[in-house]
Amino acid sequence: MTQETKGGPPARQVDLCRVCGGSNWQEVVDFGPLPLANSFLEPGTPLDGEARFPLGVLSCRDCRLMTLTHTVDPEVLYRTYFYVTSDSQTISRHMRHVADLCVERFELAPGSFVVEMGSNTGQQLAAFQDSGMRTLGVDPARELAALANERGVETLPDFFSEVTADRIVKEYGHAQLILGRHVFAHIDDISEIATGVRELLEPAGVFAVEVPYALDMLASNEFDTIYHEHLSYFSVSTFAGLFGRHGLRVVDVERATVHGGSIIVFVSRDDAPWQPRPVVAELERLERDSGFFDDATYDEFARRVAHIRETLPPLVRGLVADGKRVAGYGAPAKGSTMVGVCGLGTEDLEFCLDTTDLKQGKLQPGSHIPVRSPEQAALNPPDYYLLFAWNYADEIIRNERAFLEGGGRFIVPVPEPRVVSLADLDG
Ligand code: TMP
Ligand code: ZN
Repeated sequence: MTQETKGGPPARQVDLCRVCGGSNWQEVVDFGPLPLANSFLEPGTPLDGEARFPLGVLSCRDCRLMTLTHTVDPEVLYRTYFYVTSDSQTISRHMRHVADLCVERFELAPGSFVVEMGSNTGQQLAAFQDSGMRTLGVDPARELAALANERGVETLPDFFSEVTADRIVKEYGHAQLILGRHVFAHIDDISEIATGVRELLEPAGVFAVEVPYALDMLASNEFDTIYHEHLSYFSVSTFAGLFGRHGLRVVDVERATVHGGSIIVFVSRDDAPWQPRPVVAELERLERDSGFFDDATYDEFARRVAHIRETLPPLVRGLVADGKRVAGYGAPAKGSTMVGVCGLGTEDLEFCLDTTDLKQGKLQPGSHIPVRSPEQAALNPPDYYLLFAWNYADEIIRNERAFLEGGGRFIVPVPEPRVVSLADLDG
């Protein structure tokens, strides 16, 4: 079923679960129609000048995949895509860690062939090159693939699919390691990906898939990580079922703190020598014990999200009414959901500071709050920064010591809106 959406192409309503084929859905949240979170706008765009698409989340009662209610055509979302992987210290360190982890745990010899889907500008593969691996990226965003090729990370400007997998096998051979970092949640037909992965993997090869962990998202009220690019919200249990149906199995899982809590799930062919480590069953048990399979958990999450929606705008507006100046820190996609869901706009936030060249001078989707460079923002800093980029809170707060010393404060929106001042750090 398709739904015509004003000014834009159709969004398809989800019917069957993309993991288990079931259709016993529990409604979790419905944020109404919102614009695409990474579609930053040219100044002067009229407020009603953006395409909006329904944004809601369902949970499959059969396998507990959480999914968006609607999927937007990937050609619309990703062909001209400007999300550039963060070069923050947090992410650079994490990428080094991922490379070391894969190499050590799965005994990758120098010269092993590593393929990454959704490889963006090639930053993660560059870390594997530093470890002596042969690499190939696959990414449909043409501009980003070109940037990766320029830096010496060979990248095919394509979506990963069975066809791409087949082509890679023919032209480059089988892969010892396939990576999918923060891309699996973006893909509708994950069965096709699983089939392509099985085809491309050499018999003892490993697929490392990193996604935000649904358990962390629920526990920490990270509702702003819900946007049209994130079709699925995964757990270890859901992955075990998915891969099991494709002749693959989960053999290891590592939890990571990036992006609000993530899991790196290691998957091999089910006839490979790797035996599942105990942590796999432990996390499946943790999911069961923490209510992951109970409707009540999702209802409770929705209630906590509603509470943030009710408390964050009055907090910001109260400050503005007291003559304080408030701005956004970072203009991540999450920020677009946050302002869209909370109804914040230019009368609440003066601007958003962001280090990304491509976003500076543009307007945040939905709110039309202007994005400024850190240099511009420093000329006249606000009294409060609403920390949209809360996933880098430690790094940002450390780097913004001078702002705090000058009396500035941060509003951290999740898990509960709270104000952070210098006294909180030193106290
Ligand atoms: P991400 O969470 O999707 O990586 O997006 C983070 C955004 O925040 C990105 O647009 C860059 C921005 N940012 C800053 O402006 N300053 C910072 O110090 C950091 C770490 C990120
Ligand atoms: Zn399902």
